[in-house]
Amino acid sequence: MFITFEGIEGCGKSTQIKLLAKVLQQEGYRLLLTREPGGCPIADKIRSLLLDADNSSMLGTTELMLYAAARAQHVSEVIRPALDDGTVVLCDRFSDATRAYQSFARGIDRQRIEALNDMACEGVYPFLTILIDCEVETGLGRARQRIESATGPREERFELESLAFHQRVRNGYLQLAAEEPERFLIIDGSDNVDNVFKNILAAVIPRLRAVC
Ligand code: TMP
Repeated sequence: MFITFEGIEGCGKSTQIKLLAKVLQQEGYRLLLTREPGGCPIADKIRSLLLDADNSSMLGTTELMLYAAARAQHVSEVIRPALDDGTVVLCDRFSDATRAYQSFARGIDRQRIEALNDMACEGVYPFLTILIDCEVETGLGRARQRIESATGPREERFELESLAFHQRVRNGYLQLAAEEPERFLIIDGSDNVDNVFKNILAAVIPRLRAVC
C-alpha cells in the first residue's frame, strides 16, 4: 500500500501526512513515513544540492536527473523493501512532483520525465495520491513564514521562483489528477488543519480498509 502526498509549496501536506501517520499507527498498521527528495542518506545529500538557494544556476536537466537519481536510491533502499514487507508507505512527494515541477512548470518534455521516472521507480507506483490544493498566494505565504522561522540550511530554491512558476505547478497537479481520477484524491487545503485532516481521514480510511 503506497500512498503519496502532493501539492504546491505551503499547501500543508507535510503537516497532514504526519497526522495521518499517527492515526494509522494507532489503528495498528505497520507504517513507514518518508519524503522526497530524500528518505535515505544518499538521497538526503542530493536533496541539499537541489534545494540550496545558492544553486540558482542549476540547469533544468541537471535538476531533473538529480531528482531521478535520488528517487532511484530511495525506491531501491527504502520504499520497495518496505512495500515487499507489507508496510504501508506514506511518502511526502514522489513521481508526480517531477511531472508537475520539471515538466509543467519548467517545460521539460513529458516523455523524458516519464522515461526517467520509469527508470527510477522500477514499477513502484502510488496506489493513492492525495493532492492538497490551495491558491498559490496562500501556499507561498505559509512556506515563506516556515522558512523564516526555521533554523538550519535555507531550503528555499523553489520558494524563490515566480508566482507564475508556482501557478504552473498547481495547474500541472490538477491536470495530472484529471488524467488519473481513480488514483488522485483532491483535498481543499485552504481550510484549517483540523478540517483538512477530517476530509483526508474520511477518504483514506475506507480505501485502506477495502484493501488491507
Ligand atoms: P518539499 O518542500 O516538499 O520538501 O519539496 C522540496 C522541493 O522539491 C519542492 O519545492 C518541490 C521540489 N520537487 C521537484 O521539483 N521535483 C521532484 O521530483 C520533487 C520530489 C520535489
